[in-house]
Amino acid sequence: MSAATPPPAATNGAAHGNGEADAHESWLYNGLAKLYDPIFARVFYPRASRTIRALGIGQGHEVLELGVGTGLSLEAYPESCRVLGIDYSDAMLAQAHKKVRKKSLSHVSLRQMDAQDLSLPTGRFDFVMAFHIVTVVPDHERLMREAMRVCKPGGLITVINHFRDERGLVPRLEVKLDRTLRRLGWTTMTQRELLDPHGLEVLSVKKDWPQSLFTTIVLRNPA
Ligand SMILES: C[S@@+](CC[C@H](N)C(=O)[O-])C[C@H]1O[C@@H](n2cnc3c(N)ncnc32)[C@H](O)[C@@H]1O
Repeated sequence: MSAATPPPAATNGAAHGNGEADAHESWLYNGLAKLYDPIFARVFYPRASRTIRALGIGQGHEVLELGVGTGLSLEAYPESCRVLGIDYSDAMLAQAHKKVRKKSLSHVSLRQMDAQDLSLPTGRFDFVMAFHIVTVVPDHERLMREAMRVCKPGGLITVINHFRDERGLVPRLEVKLDRTLRRLGWTTMTQRELLDPHGLEVLSVKKDWPQSLFTTIVLRNPA
């Protein structure tokens, strides 16, 4: 594992004034990393894999996956591209390293890094992926700004996430449960809350079926 310096937000055990831990410090991703795949792989992998294959990633493309976690989606990338997976959690990255070794994914490298403050060059990546992370980091606007910065002009940024509907009973409940959800390791937001501040071109917004909890959004970084 990389000896990258952990991001300040985590080293100081930063907590919100109301006593809630920052979302990315959740026990869910550190303490339960070994249980992540048994719980989530069946639900998350098929969508991530379909999404990756549909993007036309190929020869020589540089791909960045933010919050790569246990590396659940890594097998889906073609060997002809180069993938960098970054995550903040040591424990999740340890699982990803195991996967990379076991499956001989020599086109994949992994580094510990804060997705909100990437120590990566501007305009480096053809594709930036953010699967199930935008509601996990404390500041999704910073994450999106960093995704845009490191993505090439005209490159694609792909987000898979659950988004709260604008209205209705369930969204009201989600807002009420927000403090509890934060303790578990995530929050909720609407699609507009994610996209409005950034002026990205939206290429597609898809759900696998109308009632699916998860939406896949493909965005083009401004040229
Ligand atoms: C719900 S998991 C998703 C993992 C993977 N993308 C997937 O789809 O299975 C969220 C991941 O985001 C990581 N994460 C949370 N905050 C982060 C941050 N500030 N920088 C980088 N990774 C972060 C967590 O450690 C965890 O691995």
